[in-house]
Amino acid sequence: MLESLQKNAEKALSELQNVTDTTSLKEWRSQNLGKESVIMQTLGNLGGLPTSERPVIGRQANNIRQNLETAFQKRIDQLRDSASETLPTASLDVTLPGRPVQHGRLHIVTQTMRRIYAIWADMGFQIYRSPDVETDEYNFELLNIPKHHPARDMWDTFHTDTPGIILRTHTSPGQIHAMREYCPNPIRVILPGMCYRYEQITARSEIQFNQVEGLAIGQNIRFTDLKGTLSDFARRMFSANTATRFRASHFPFTEPSAEMDVECFLCSGGGCSVCKHTGWLEILGCGMVHPTVLENGGYNPREFTGFAFGMGPERITMLKYGIKDIRYFWGNDLRFLEQF
Ligand code: DAH
Repeated sequence: MLESLQKNAEKALSELQNVTDTTSLKEWRSQNLGKESVIMQTLGNLGGLPTSERPVIGRQANNIRQNLETAFQKRIDQLRDSASETLPTASLDVTLPGRPVQHGRLHIVTQTMRRIYAIWADMGFQIYRSPDVETDEYNFELLNIPKHHPARDMWDTFHTDTPGIILRTHTSPGQIHAMREYCPNPIRVILPGMCYRYEQITARSEIQFNQVEGLAIGQNIRFTDLKGTLSDFARRMFSANTATRFRASHFPFTEPSAEMDVECFLCSGGGCSVCKHTGWLEILGCGMVHPTVLENGGYNPREFTGFAFGMGPERITMLKYGIKDIRYFWGNDLRFLEQF
């Protein structure tokens, strides 16, 4: 038995010297060292041999296997060396430009948000972060939206298994966190972040999206401050002569409430399909902070006033670049992402 193993190995080793390419190298390996090979079969069946023969044959077969393995590795190296020797050295052109490094980029919505942050920073507003997972109390009640209030229908909510713990439906609860932290000092903050709504996903709505909330609290802050500041924001964000208009609206946490439109920057107010032929684009909700909300934040509404606003960076991005479908932002399609 040992003799035939030895003979087999010798034959394999001499065949190996004739192997010159990787395909036949692989074949050689599976034939001589694979599961079905003589040597591996012998090693696998050692248990069936008489006890007296087992150690001798076992040791010998192992040696043979190792020799084949070593020879195989050596052959790989030899073939690799001879391949690089045959490379035509003259064609190595060191003046060729290097391979370009692929640059990553910021997501288009991140770019928009950073632009929004920079504008508000210039106007003295700091970024204030508040949690994505909120209580019903912060998301609704402290914002003047009691249980069963019809205004809750504006925000279809994701609830967790823990009663009273939800995913925030807007960034407005951050107003209460900021007020409770800074009271009785004046406040100028923006509160950016993800919001979640249990909605049907369509071209116009997603179940998660960003908002940038803003809050200014102080003495003698008036509606004219709100209008002036937000109009200034629009001019910085869109262009120096962007016109704005304010339409009366309703939010439970502001009184009075408004929606701000900017003149359509695609048709300059002339009317087009993006502005639905009105010449105006709605970009944010705003208002004077409701006295009850001020009180919930710790401020005396007879002494302090303030304004707040909330905008959707995805929406602003869609308007600005003529993006027709909000789902592109999360679609992870490089053909979309690489355009910005
Ligand atoms: N939280 C509102 C929403 O998600 C947006 C909003 C409107 C925020 C008016 C405000 C505001 O701060 O004053 O629809």
